[in-house]
Amino acid sequence: MKFQEIKEINFKRLNMIQDLLIAELLNKKEIKRDQPMEWSLRHLCSCSQLAKLLALNREIDPEIAGIAGAVHDLYIIQTGIFENHGPIGAPKVKAFLEDFNSKFGLECGAISTSDIDLIVEATEKHIQKAEFNDKPFVELIKDVDALDRFLHGKATKDYYFTRSEKCLKEMVFSTGTPS
Ligand SMILES: [Fe+2]
Repeated sequence: MKFQEIKEINFKRLNMIQDLLIAELLNKKEIKRDQPMEWSLRHLCSCSQLAKLLALNREIDPEIAGIAGAVHDLYIIQTGIFENHGPIGAPKVKAFLEDFNSKFGLECGAISTSDIDLIVEATEKHIQKAEFNDKPFVELIKDVDALDRFLHGKATKDYYFTRSEKCLKEMVFSTGTPS
């Protein structure tokens, strides 16, 4: 999707998914967490927004990118556990999105199998910030995760900083002349 072709973007699926994740966090206020619940709330919402922005510039579907931004830390949201949350969380994300399709697919539109696969792969690999590969969707979520931490004032070094700096330069992009 090219920026110049966009007239309106439908984020119905993403908005519903954010609602579900926020409800999950609020329902699990009592569990012990490696990261504060408030961080998870902030991070899932702002990662979605940053994912949309970068996706628009990289000609990636902004809603699918936004959904990946919201769910990539699902395992932390569900359990409070940070360790190895990418690989362990990937099958949980697949189950979550399939459950979303069965409950809300008619109302909001189902997420395709190929889009679920993209989101699951990005979830699995997003913790590998030092590895740069040729998979645009995986790289997008790694970049978003790093940039969001930076913009929330988290200590940012090494590959997290490299990625944040790259995104900040990228975001000064031309949107073209409106027709
Ligand atoms: Fe994250």
